[in-house]
Amino acid sequence: MTRKPASGPRRRKAPAAPGPPPKRAWKPGNLLAPVPVVLVSCGGSRGFPANLITIAWVGTVCSEPPMLGIAVRPERFSYPILRKTGEFVVNLPGRELARHVDWCGVKSGRDVDKFRETGLTPLPATRVSCPLVAECPVNLECRVTKTLALGSHTLFLAEILAVQVSAALLDAKGRLALENAGLMAYVHGEYAALGPTIGRFGFSVRKGTAARRKRG
Ligand SMILES: Cc1cc2nc3c(=O)[nH]c(=O)nc-3n(C[C@H](O)[C@H](O)[C@H](O)COP(=O)(O)O)c2cc1C
Repeated sequence: MTRKPASGPRRRKAPAAPGPPPKRAWKPGNLLAPVPVVLVSCGGSRGFPANLITIAWVGTVCSEPPMLGIAVRPERFSYPILRKTGEFVVNLPGRELARHVDWCGVKSGRDVDKFRETGLTPLPATRVSCPLVAECPVNLECRVTKTLALGSHTLFLAEILAVQVSAALLDAKGRLALENAGLMAYVHGEYAALGPTIGRFGFSVRKGTAARRKRG
């Protein structure tokens, strides 16, 4: 079988550069960046109060079924709630909620009612008993399927049973314009707004892309 020579992503010709800078060894650690930062809501059933915990160790882990994982330290007030109820909602905050996100990540539900103190609105979810956060444009209702004690954190793997999106993000054709949600990221200890879109899935191989790029 003959293989076509790989074409690789087309690039504009640039003046000869000195090449990438040299590397320095850095301490092994959690430098994966950017990562999402989310408000996880839990509780509100089985005698547990509704609570909010800020989580940055969160990620998509499976497409079919749709699943994600959150890593939580056992000493968190939210931990026994997650373990015993097996339910939570991942609420994606817009950048205007950065202060609330940070606050929920430094205060404990042991001492404060975070819904009351932040003024965030709890709304009933459709598939789980814990509330979702009305002010967050996207809410993922999750049921825990597996827990895995890893060390400092326990990983809660969960199936996404239902998704709520703000109606304001749907255009006339019913398309979800998530780019208008003003979502934020967490980068090396800092909250960051997302920059402009630089491409769409598969744009590097789509016909006409190079021509369009040349035109400007
Ligand atoms: C930006 C940010 C990200 C955080 N990510 C996590 C995380 O992934 N896992 C975790 O256990 N705690 C994380 N925390 C810490 C908890 O949110 C914090 O300890 C919180 O007060 C726990 O709330 P609770 O005691 O009401 O459960 C994070 C805090 C901040 C500010």
